[in-house]
Amino acid sequence: MTTYPKPAQPSRSRLEPEPMPRRDFLGLAAWWTAAAALLFGFLGAARLPKAAVLPSPSKRFRVRLPASLGSGQAYIPAGRSVVVFKETAGVYAISTVCTHLGCIVKATEKGFDCPCHGSKFNKDGPGVRGPAPKGLPWVEVKDLGGDNFLIDEGKTVAAGTSVVV
Ligand code: FES
Repeated sequence: MTTYPKPAQPSRSRLEPEPMPRRDFLGLAAWWTAAAALLFGFLGAARLPKAAVLPSPSKRFRVRLPASLGSGQAYIPAGRSVVVFKETAGVYAISTVCTHLGCIVKATEKGFDCPCHGSKFNKDGPGVRGPAPKGLPWVEVKDLGGDNFLIDEGKTVAAGTSVVV
């Protein structure tokens, strides 16, 4: 058997870096690819559109009753589903959400009418005509001084509960 001498390695400068073995190069390339994928994933998640759902307003809100509000007159704060009354006995609020299926009732001379299925309620909330199973609930009112009140649409109180001012 004939043996051939190995070809002479070209001489390399000591300043020249060692050539990287292919296995090491592929390992490093895999790590960099995984890191780039994670980075782009996080960037994409950060750029996702935000939910297009508006937060519902708090059920507690302040209201300043107009000075011109006469005794027994209904005052409906803008964007709210309560009606506020100021009478000599005090201030109270009644929900305007129909107890049948949740439509907003309209204030009338005699009380409240539901435009959806015709329920009628008298001025203090009890139902006069169905299909609403219950009267309109009274909601909590707190006096903040002056003509300012804190109303909590989420807390019902016994009918007839009013804040003496
Ligand atoms: S929702 Fe008011 S009567 Fe049906």
